[in-house]
Amino acid sequence: MKNHTDVLIFHTQICAGASQICLMADANLIFASAPSRKRSGMEIRMKQKQKAVVLSQREAAPQIYDMWIGTDLAAQAMPGQFLCIYPRDKSTLLPRPISICEVREDRKALRIVYRVAGRGTGEFSQYRAGDAIDIMGTLGNGFPLEEAAGRKAFLMGGGIGVPPVLQLAKELDGEKQIVVGYRDGHTFLREDLEKYGSVYIATEDGSAGTKGNVMDAIAENGLEADIIYACGPMPMLRAIKAYAAEHHIKAYISLEEHMACGVGACLGCVVKTRETDSHSHVNNARICTEGPVFEAGEVEI
Ligand SMILES: Cc1cc2nc3c(=O)[nH]c(=O)nc-3n(C[C@H](O)[C@H](O)[C@H](O)COP(=O)(O)OP(=O)(O)OC[C@H]3O[C@@H](n4cnc5c(N)ncnc54)[C@H](O)[C@@H]3O)c2cc1C
Ligand code: FES
Repeated sequence: MKNHTDVLIFHTQICAGASQICLMADANLIFASAPSRKRSGMEIRMKQKQKAVVLSQREAAPQIYDMWIGTDLAAQAMPGQFLCIYPRDKSTLLPRPISICEVREDRKALRIVYRVAGRGTGEFSQYRAGDAIDIMGTLGNGFPLEEAAGRKAFLMGGGIGVPPVLQLAKELDGEKQIVVGYRDGHTFLREDLEKYGSVYIATEDGSAGTKGNVMDAIAENGLEADIIYACGPMPMLRAIKAYAAEHHIKAYISLEEHMACGVGACLGCVVKTRETDSHSHVNNARICTEGPVFEAGEVEI
């Protein structure tokens, strides 16, 4: 460490479990102690902001960008995990969380697909092949693939929740029915998804597939499943939670809610949980560290 004034230490013991975070701005290291997926114990994670390189970028649909990033983080990436990407514009302050959409076969590159929402993603959309990019990852718990063994699964994505479904579809074994919802006929990632399962489309304006949402596509096509994996906007996840309860099946939902630090320090992303955390004795979990994937029955959404 070159400059001791760059060291920031957070001790948070408020709700989602005691965390000790040490952010070292010059070394860009983040140490976080956080409960593991099952919330049954503490696991120490060290996350590092690191340089990566943009390999390619194209506009896949209006305001939707498809970027490949060369990074050794690809070696450890799991479906449902995400990266934090740092805008160069320092006035934006916080890194932006974006899901891992695909991992290249040689595990040396990651794909992200994102919608331009504001300043951060607007800046990312201007990057070209060869540009350096600061990222941190891989973050979050990811989808529990082993739960699908011997089962027929729904893999569901809505809007910007579609991208993580691709790597999930690649890695999940068994019968996969991929049900994805879009605003209109710009059905980005459709051809990629079709390689890994039967794809059912819903669009809000009816320009492709079922008119309506992913639940309408399930009903219209008479689909059934024993387990659900899903990512998308909150109303979609609430409908999936209700559907799973009604059909007595498990649903694993990824909550892509607003985040700040992304590593468990700020408590800006807590969700209410059914169970009390064994460590902190509160009914809260941080989406960025305990999630973003939760069994639907575990969280109040
Ligand atoms: C775990 C996780 C994974 C994500 N994966 C993806 C992905 O794969 N592709 C993708 O396009 N986006 C994804 N997002 C959302 C993405 O992080 C935001 O769109 C992005 O941070 C917006 O940054 P910005 O600077 O462009 O916009 P800002 O200027 O920060 O915000 C612009 C507008 O977008 C809204 N916004 C910001 N964050 C979110 C959010 N999380 N959900 C809904 N609205 C938001 C703001 O309220 C504001 O109205 C993910 C979010 C999380 C938490
Ligand atoms: S605790 Fe800071 S974003 Fe989750």
